[in-house]
Amino acid sequence: MAWQTQDRRKAEPDDKTYLDEEIRSELTQKYLPRYPTKRAALLPALHLVQHKHGWIAPRAMEELAVFLELAPADVLDTATFYEEYWLKPKGRHLIGVCRSLSCEICGSRSITDYLKTRLMIEPGQTTADGQFTLIEMECLGACGGAPAMLVDETLYENLTIESTETILRTVRQEDQPSEH
Ligand code: FES
Repeated sequence: MAWQTQDRRKAEPDDKTYLDEEIRSELTQKYLPRYPTKRAALLPALHLVQHKHGWIAPRAMEELAVFLELAPADVLDTATFYEEYWLKPKGRHLIGVCRSLSCEICGSRSITDYLKTRLMIEPGQTTADGQFTLIEMECLGACGGAPAMLVDETLYENLTIESTETILRTVRQEDQPSEH
């Protein structure tokens, strides 16, 4: 029997335009005039795409390459070099547990392990329902309240397993459509 080849790019087409008019005009008017070359505007361009779409899709990198007159591989190299760029879709909520020294001494590992078990994911992964993405972060500047974690923009300190569970439940409840 002959091999069947499946081109996944065709199997899961991404027809979305990531570099929309708003991003293009911000780049053209605000960023490109500040930099000596188009290439130099790549970092702010990646930030703009991520800020708007939550992550940087392969198609967004292709569009940026065309717009900035770069090879797609150059855009990919830069996007993969910096940890702050998300190359996979993020969950609706980003949970970042601090793993730096003070938090580690105060038990951040057990918090991360609890979240891994509770959400059934490893750091860097997103739950199957797309609700949570779990990551480990460096010092959040809240060492006095170690162990600490961020959930989206909110900082939680002096975490215990119990308070972590309460936070998870609260975020889940807030996501439920309210009953009228
Ligand atoms: Fe965790 Fe500083 S070490 S907040």
